[in-house]
Amino acid sequence: RTVPAIIVAIDGPSGTGKSSTSKAVATALGLRYLDTGAQYRAITWWMVENGIDTADAEAVADAAAKPEIVSGTDPLAPTITVDGIDVSGPIRTQEVTSKVSAVSAVPRVRTLITELQRSIAAGAEGGILVEGRDIGTTVLPDADLKVFLTASPEARAARRSGELKGKEATDLAATREALLRRDAADSGRKTSPLAKAEDAVEVDTSDLTLQQVIECVVTLVEEKRALR
Ligand code: DC
Repeated sequence: RTVPAIIVAIDGPSGTGKSSTSKAVATALGLRYLDTGAQYRAITWWMVENGIDTADAEAVADAAAKPEIVSGTDPLAPTITVDGIDVSGPIRTQEVTSKVSAVSAVPRVRTLITELQRSIAAGAEGGILVEGRDIGTTVLPDADLKVFLTASPEARAARRSGELKGKEATDLAATREALLRRDAADSGRKTSPLAKAEDAVEVDTSDLTLQQVIECVVTLVEEKRALR
């Protein structure tokens, strides 16, 4: 028999190992993969590139439909382009990182990006794993499996600064500060804030290795698939 495509939502703050876990799980299980944070970063990159004041919510809303954002869904080689330009590198700069919370809090931006995410998920043959902040609560409330990853602020800051090492000069205290500030903004905004869906499985990754988190989520997906 053919198994219907499974939809997996993985949410949580940054520094929980969400992206590494999501890519590895999707690869292991043959699912498509969508990094929704990259889409918010891409629209933010476009705003900066086009001289739009990202603190001006009205200006951001007015321009939000202009850039064409295209996400590839191969977990081994996720791609993202804006108007045909590959922005996988530029969306990870500290400038974009510091401005993405303001841009992603604008309701018009969320509506547009949410529509894009739903159409990608609907078109994904063989199932998809979508990672973000509001996937289980807002984007795909009917997902077959919802996982919410957490970790202590200390564990998250340590991971994030490990990721940045070599790319941009950073110290642990500053990383922790910036990360907590971004989380507070993402959790405190009015339109679909970072939140755990009622029916999500919470996994605290503070004392787990990446491999252990991957195994845990793979098991959760396999359990769901077995029930279908
Ligand atoms: O996962 P990330 O750090 O690349 O996400 C970048 C920002 O995008 C994050 O600060 C909040 C926002 N975001 C969001 O609002 N909703 C999502 N589903 C994913 C990310």
